[in-house]
Amino acid sequence: MANLQLSKNACQLLLDGETYEMPVYVGSENEKAVDITQLRAKTGYITLDSGYANTGSCVSSITYIDGEKGILRYRGIPIEQLAQKSTFVETAYLIIYGELPNREQLKRFSNLLTQHEMIHETLKHHFEGFPPTAHPMAILSAMINAMGCFQPDPMGTGDQFDDTVARLLSKVRTIAAFSYKKSIGQPFIYPNPDFSYCANLLHMMFSVPYREFGPDPDVVAAMNLILILHADHEQNCSTSTVRMVGSSQANLFASVASGVCALWGPRHGGANQAVISMLEEIIKSKMDVQEYIRRVKDSKNEIKLMGFGHRVYKSYDPRATILRQTCEKLLAKLGIKDPALDVAKGLETAALSDEYFISRHLYPNVDFYSGIIMRAIGIPLNMFTVMFAIGRMPGWIANWREVNDDPKGRIYRPRQIYTGPTIRDYVSVEQR
Ligand code: CMC
Repeated sequence: MANLQLSKNACQLLLDGETYEMPVYVGSENEKAVDITQLRAKTGYITLDSGYANTGSCVSSITYIDGEKGILRYRGIPIEQLAQKSTFVETAYLIIYGELPNREQLKRFSNLLTQHEMIHETLKHHFEGFPPTAHPMAILSAMINAMGCFQPDPMGTGDQFDDTVARLLSKVRTIAAFSYKKSIGQPFIYPNPDFSYCANLLHMMFSVPYREFGPDPDVVAAMNLILILHADHEQNCSTSTVRMVGSSQANLFASVASGVCALWGPRHGGANQAVISMLEEIIKSKMDVQEYIRRVKDSKNEIKLMGFGHRVYKSYDPRATILRQTCEKLLAKLGIKDPALDVAKGLETAALSDEYFISRHLYPNVDFYSGIIMRAIGIPLNMFTVMFAIGRMPGWIANWREVNDDPKGRIYRPRQIYTGPTIRDYVSVEQR
């Protein structure tokens, strides 16, 4: 594995009076890991690590995070630079193929995306099966899986990879926009090949027949930024899900559809929707932010400050820093006065000076300000997590590919400590 170095310092484990040696590996940013692959075979023990908080499930060359320092880089490039200078399509190429594209490569990639932006007309009928109340994340996951049935090579093997990737990346945007149109009972709007990736997404969501939505460049730029910031985030819940499903050699579409489901929950991608619900609740009840913070801290209430905290970041999530600045600028530019922004800023100030949050290293994460931006550009609340999913698509694809390209890759199959009943006899229903 490139850049994975065997350290000269092995790990010594003293167990049941015996000493075992286990190799230590070091990554390109000096991250260290004890290799326990032989632990059970040699000692009969397994490791127990609830929530995999200390488990490196793979070796990956896609994204680097230093949670203590608030660093995020895609393929080595700092997120701040990509946010400022790149587009989502270019960043997607970087994440999937490992290098920034040259002019020719970018053109070819963009053309492939345009070529595959339509979905098969038969697939459109699938939308009819969903009730109008269906959550767009349910529709998105089901439709991506269904879409796989229409692809010549959903596995994306060999030469077909570029084509399969473009189909997924492009059509997912069409499906997302169609699910929104379905949910509000409007006719589907077809993609416009003259528009950029983000402008086209907004066009399919907000245009109506005979009245084309002319996306404001600032709004398109904000959409680009949101997608770039969500494009990958190493081994989070949904990406690990994609890798796990992919490790069984399930095809790309099936694997990514499972990633959408994993992303949906409020502890993960669903937090962006939950943040706005929380801010609205505070505004509606006219509650003071200090009172809300007090309620969060009281464990009896079992409420979290949504958009705060992260498994990896123990300082400010760099994506939140970028989004907060953009949020202020965009709202000012669009002339929007959103009370949710004031409440969010008030909560942030209160939390960051409160011992409960300080001692637990809880800072705003990507979801804290993204919802306010999405609301400003007209994205409806139940589509927030869908936007996250579109953004995360390059990361899922790149991670799926890493799993599938690894000649020594094994199926993901953790172990457990069983705590159920020990052996007992079956009792017939008459005797129970
Ligand atoms: N509000 C209040 N307390 C919190 C919060 C929060 N948002 N997050 C963590 N804590 C507390 C938690 O109760 C625990 O306290 P104690 O030590 O007294 O039991 C301590 O901080 C450590 O938290 P944890 O639950 O062990 O942390 P975790 O790594 O298992 O969970 C998390 C991470 C993101 C699920 C959690 O912080 C959370 O639920 N945050 C709110 C939901 C959210 O914003 N999710 C989006 C994450 S970023 C986008 C993404 O990549 O998915």
